[in-house]
Amino acid sequence: MFLNSILGASFILLFGSAIAGFSFQNNAHPASLSQEPWVAPAWADTLKSPFHEEPLTLAQGEELFTLYCASCHGDAGYGDGAAGGALGQKPANFHDTLVKKQTDGALFWKLSNGRGNMPPFKDVFEDEQKWQLVAYIRHLGKTE
Ligand code: HEC
Repeated sequence: MFLNSILGASFILLFGSAIAGFSFQNNAHPASLSQEPWVAPAWADTLKSPFHEEPLTLAQGEELFTLYCASCHGDAGYGDGAAGGALGQKPANFHDTLVKKQTDGALFWKLSNGRGNMPPFKDVFEDEQKWQLVAYIRHLGKTE
């Protein structure tokens, strides 16, 4: 009985701090609540992929995209994924000129760092995977 209530209490604590952590994260990025343009720092434009594009690059990018990004950005990258609809800030549409005119480095920086509802993927992927994702976003932007 005693043990039960301890377990119950720590569950509530854990759950409570998960919620607190979530709202804290949102508060920490007030810019995400307005539709302010998201600009990567200028130095990010100088980032270049050190990896050679090979036949598998796009296939690997697509696989990662389908698993980690399509729920919000949509399978074809129009920002129309099922999970995106509930967000205050709409997920980016990769067919938009605003995205297309950015450098690879800026997109790499953004998907690494995230903002508001866009999660930071810095520690989720190896650099090579992040560049595969950039290549795949580029590919989506060229398709209709
Ligand atoms: C939980 C939903 C969600 C997931 C999952 C998600 N994104 Fe996003 N993404 C967003 C939102 C929302 C924005 C717009 C953020 C903003 O402008 O503040 C965004 C913006 C971006 C941008 C910036 C585009 C621009 O406008 O310059 C890139 C690049 C991006 N996402 C790539 C990815 C990649 C790659 C993945 C998967 C590895 C991914 N996102 C997964 C929600 C998501």
